[in-house]
Amino acid sequence: MRTIHDKMSHLLLRRRPWFIAIFQACLVACSLLLAWLLRFDFTLPDRRILLSALPLLVLARLAGMASFGLFRGWWKYAGIGDGIDIIKAVGTGSVLFLLSTRYLFVGESLPRAVYVLEAMLTTGLLAGVRLLTRVLAGSMRADVSTCKRVILIGAGSAAQSVLQEIRLPGSGYEAVGCLDDDPSKRGVRINNVAVLGTVDELPGVLSSQSADEVLIAVPSATGAQMRRFVNICNREHISFKTVPALKDIIAGEVIVSQLREVRFEDLLGRDPIQINLESVRNEISGRTVVVTGAAGSIGSELCRQLLECNPATLVCFDQSETGLFFLRRDLDKPANGTRVAICVVDITDMERIRKLFSEFSPDIIFHAAAYKHVPLMESNVQEAVKNNVLGLVGLLDLAEESGCGNFVLISSDKAVNPTNVMGATKRICELVLSSRPPNRMRCVSVRFGNVLGSSGSVIPVLKEQLHKNEPLTVTHPEMTRFFMTTREAVTLVLQAFAIGDHRDILVLDMGEPVRILDLARTLIRLSGKFEPDVEIQFTGLREGEKLHEELFYKNEQVISTAFKKIKRTSAPIKDWNELRLQLDQLRASMTIDGAAPIRAGIKRIVPEYVFQPESTRQIRQPVVHDAYVEKDSSLVK
Ligand SMILES: NC(=O)c1ccc[n+]([C@@H]2O[C@H](COP(=O)([O-])OP(=O)(O)OC[C@H]3O[C@@H](n4cnc5c(N)ncnc54)[C@H](O)[C@@H]3O)[C@@H](O)[C@H]2O)c1
Repeated sequence: MRTIHDKMSHLLLRRRPWFIAIFQACLVACSLLLAWLLRFDFTLPDRRILLSALPLLVLARLAGMASFGLFRGWWKYAGIGDGIDIIKAVGTGSVLFLLSTRYLFVGESLPRAVYVLEAMLTTGLLAGVRLLTRVLAGSMRADVSTCKRVILIGAGSAAQSVLQEIRLPGSGYEAVGCLDDDPSKRGVRINNVAVLGTVDELPGVLSSQSADEVLIAVPSATGAQMRRFVNICNREHISFKTVPALKDIIAGEVIVSQLREVRFEDLLGRDPIQINLESVRNEISGRTVVVTGAAGSIGSELCRQLLECNPATLVCFDQSETGLFFLRRDLDKPANGTRVAICVVDITDMERIRKLFSEFSPDIIFHAAAYKHVPLMESNVQEAVKNNVLGLVGLLDLAEESGCGNFVLISSDKAVNPTNVMGATKRICELVLSSRPPNRMRCVSVRFGNVLGSSGSVIPVLKEQLHKNEPLTVTHPEMTRFFMTTREAVTLVLQAFAIGDHRDILVLDMGEPVRILDLARTLIRLSGKFEPDVEIQFTGLREGEKLHEELFYKNEQVISTAFKKIKRTSAPIKDWNELRLQLDQLRASMTIDGAAPIRAGIKRIVPEYVFQPESTRQIRQPVVHDAYVEKDSSLVK
């Protein structure tokens, strides 16, 4: 909860005009009272006249103040100009007051001395509070040695807001100068802080001016621009912070309080995504949408973004009660009137799913519930098949039975030439969706690589190790993965859903793969540490893991869509009757002891699946598809 002090600072920082007006009205009332006391030797005769004059005076003074902008302005920077405005406002107010008392107070009048004394006292008080604020602010800033000396990257409106806030007492910062790549801004002063040159000139600026930190005040910076800024700061061994991206800036909050460390996703994910939000909205608005795995990293982001599209009902399925508890808190009271239903349910529990589907009659299902941890699923093969494959098959049948019109599977790049059970189950799911005969339900799969920061993924693990000052564990120096921010991936999933045809496997273009070793090194630098101080240990590939992931099968034709980051694949369709038979065999294999029969059943459906027991494991080279070209891969080197 905010303290009273916080609230007062907030009021003053935001300079709420109504607050300032009330405060100044009180000063006017005090002036009148004091003028009366002075005029009548500290007695209060004719109180009726005094009380009738008070509202007139306050209104006249407020009108005068409003005309000369006395409800705005930073008192701590008050100067001669403000003094002149006060005199003009008091003069105007006095004339208004004089005229109103003359016409309204028939037969009675205020002593002339009161008019004069009140005007003098009001002038003194209005000027006095400004002066006092300025003196107090100055004394609070007196010890600038404790302030961080900062250089701002950017000299636009965000930098201007940051500089304004930095000048406030207690901000803890002192601005040395700004750097901006626009050469025409050189020498320009923003809030009295000079633009010293371009961002590339940071080394020169640092050699002539001492600074403790760089503030990156470019909320619209793309991933490539952020990488460049971070690069330059790293080379100069100066720490840095950033304002959040535009979409993350909390309106009305002080920007300085939103300054934060640069995150890995800033270096990847600020590039604008081209989507047609209207087409997505049209598909979702007013519909009933089910998200399975809603409490997970992708599911929860899906729920958040779906809510922005005004579904009539959003139904969240997950077996994790705690996860759903946090999701409910997160989605509390959607502003647009969408009904949110939270259902603790295991998607393999067909009876319960049937009941829920008949209760909600979903129009669209986004299926994100799955087991996803590769090494774990290698030792729990039966569970992986039960949850990921049989769960999906049952869900599809019940969805169709309930009249659902759209089914979207969240697939994974691990489905391509899988070397592990988890990836193979995802491939089976893709095949099931693409082979199902076209009935009334449109089935679309969306395939993509790692999303940053998802539960149990590499970045949270490395960050925790950094936080605990432990060595960073990287599986292999050459290991690469595709990365995208969760928000970006989910936005594209929604767009893919809007454009997908029945049987489509749509693949998100994730840029070039990132070497995990580079990622670890980048995280070290972003954390303000340096590599020799942080050990990196190579642990070796774990069971079922590939050195490089792939996004396409060799026999998949890659077709561009209207959206640069979404590719459509075209490949021969598996015969549905044959697949059903193979699925029955797979189901039967689960009754036999051991994982081998299940792996054999998987292999029958996915011939590309390669089981690599520990002893025979080889590093497999990725298939680089001709259609897949991406240029900008540089991370912070
Ligand atoms: N995280 C990634 O990097 C990534 C990348 C590509 C694809 N995917 C796919 O996206 C999906 C979601 O991934 P995530 O990262 O959000 O995983 P997650 O583990 O954070 O979320 C999965 C959710 O599904 C739920 N779930 C699992 N089995 C269930 C069942 N039987 N009944 C009900 N709920 C069940 C879990 O409780 C969990 O909340 C997975 O299918 C995964 O393969 C993930």
